[in-house]
Amino acid sequence: MTEALTSLIESEAWKALEAHAATARTLHLRDLFAQDPTRGERLRVEAAGIYFDYSKNRITDETILLLLKLAEQSGLRSRIEAMFNGDKINVTEKRAVLHVALRAPKEEAILVDGTDVVPLVHAVLDKMAGFSNRVRSGEWKGYTGKPIRNVINIGIGGSDLGPVMAYEALRHYSQRDLNFRFVSNVDGTDFAEATRDLDAEETLFIISSKTFTTLETMTNAHSARVWALETLKHSAAIARHFVAVSTNAEEVEKFGIDTANMFEFWDWVGGRYSMDSAIGLSTMLAIGPENFHAMLAGFHEMDVHFRTAPFEHNLPVLLGLLAIYNNNFLGAQTVAVLPYEQYLKRFPAYLQQLTMESNGKHVTLDGVKVDYQTGPIYWGEPGTNGQHSFYQLIHQGTRLIPCDFIAFGQALNPIGRHHDILLANVFAQAEALAFGKTTQEVEADGTPSWLAPHRTFEGNRPSNTILLEKLTPAALGKLVALYEHSVFTQGVIWKIDSFDQWGVELGKVLAQRIIPELESKPDSKPGHDSSTNALIKHYRSFRKDAAK
Ligand code: F6P
Repeated sequence: MTEALTSLIESEAWKALEAHAATARTLHLRDLFAQDPTRGERLRVEAAGIYFDYSKNRITDETILLLLKLAEQSGLRSRIEAMFNGDKINVTEKRAVLHVALRAPKEEAILVDGTDVVPLVHAVLDKMAGFSNRVRSGEWKGYTGKPIRNVINIGIGGSDLGPVMAYEALRHYSQRDLNFRFVSNVDGTDFAEATRDLDAEETLFIISSKTFTTLETMTNAHSARVWALETLKHSAAIARHFVAVSTNAEEVEKFGIDTANMFEFWDWVGGRYSMDSAIGLSTMLAIGPENFHAMLAGFHEMDVHFRTAPFEHNLPVLLGLLAIYNNNFLGAQTVAVLPYEQYLKRFPAYLQQLTMESNGKHVTLDGVKVDYQTGPIYWGEPGTNGQHSFYQLIHQGTRLIPCDFIAFGQALNPIGRHHDILLANVFAQAEALAFGKTTQEVEADGTPSWLAPHRTFEGNRPSNTILLEKLTPAALGKLVALYEHSVFTQGVIWKIDSFDQWGVELGKVLAQRIIPELESKPDSKPGHDSSTNALIKHYRSFRKDAAK
């Protein structure tokens, strides 16, 4: 790995931003809003049905101009085109990055190595729709003739987080007599709890794995087969109770799943960008093909916006640039994603893989060690729960934590005043973070001076507010695509490969070495460092079958 000054921090746009931030850092949102009463209306963009208010960031008009220059200087425009054109922008894996093809309309053509992939995508969507309709209608029967009542998706990472997030997000639109579960962890408890009250005769497993070799998924898939056959007895039953979603037909066949029951996707779909591919089969089973297509249309609308809108009005570009500013120029280390929508409870977890597996990188595309921070830590919880837990630190702690608030104008479950109260809270939080409450204001309320510092809110905490009309399948598509492209924007500026994930490999290899040391060679001397060796020995003494 070369240790060298990369051109990014030496570039004119970066240096200009550094100089600007040195003075802008001292500005307070209270003053910025006081100086410009139209700020809240100016620093917002409305596009693709999303109202994006970024006025509560510690920025001026000049900050935006400089960030836009940074984007231009980074070649963002041509990189976007390269992605949409199917160029192999995932350089370390020599792959095209074409999740946008998964939601391209039938009339479009997108070539990968000379082959138009759009007809392939639609053929799989049609196959998924045919299967989904048969299961949803009860026409698809289990081995003993009973209709399917339970669907269990077995997968991990992108083969789990997208499906579970989308299922939870769109549950309102789901067929309620079908029961959906998601098993991801290799911890047997995940599988045991997901299946303990289910009848195998009515249960369908979707084994979702791009590679079909992932340890966790294959371990769970084998346990599922054992569990199903305990009741169903005959291996012929597998064909009625197991389907696969994968790029690897050979491994699917080896596992014993008929490739007629396999839903294909392609190496140009990254795991964390795969929820629109056949990996979304559980989503389609839950909400039906029509709603699934509406979700894809939402994704596509944001794709078109990202590709065509000028950067100053481009939602993903602005979201990405603001994240860069907070991270690289204001020193923020994390981003809190706070959806004020219970159905989005798994959205922060989904975003964690999307953002951190994509942009948690330490070298540039050329393999040069970066000398600037890359991907921040994303985390969050649905509002209002977080307000009664970690918001204290965001409001009064010593760290700068930019927040993305996400909210919807209409409730899917309107009950009394709940929605107004919910929305009042999200607006109040963004307001409190930005403006705070000065010691004078606190004392003016009658607080004694010894207590006033504790009750003072400095404010000047940045946030974005992302407001949509209603959580529909299309709205979810737009929201996810907004973050996907914002991640891409940041990756381009940092000159990193946002589409590989080498950082997950070492732990996998070491685990494969340790497994036999725990199981088949329990008396051997483990071959690791003294800490790992001692842990292995101690674990062996805990194992149920260890000699006592
Ligand atoms: O954790 C690494 C990873 O490769 C993710 O990128 C991916 O989403 C996940 O594992 C699951 O991989 P697969 O779909 O091949 O089982």
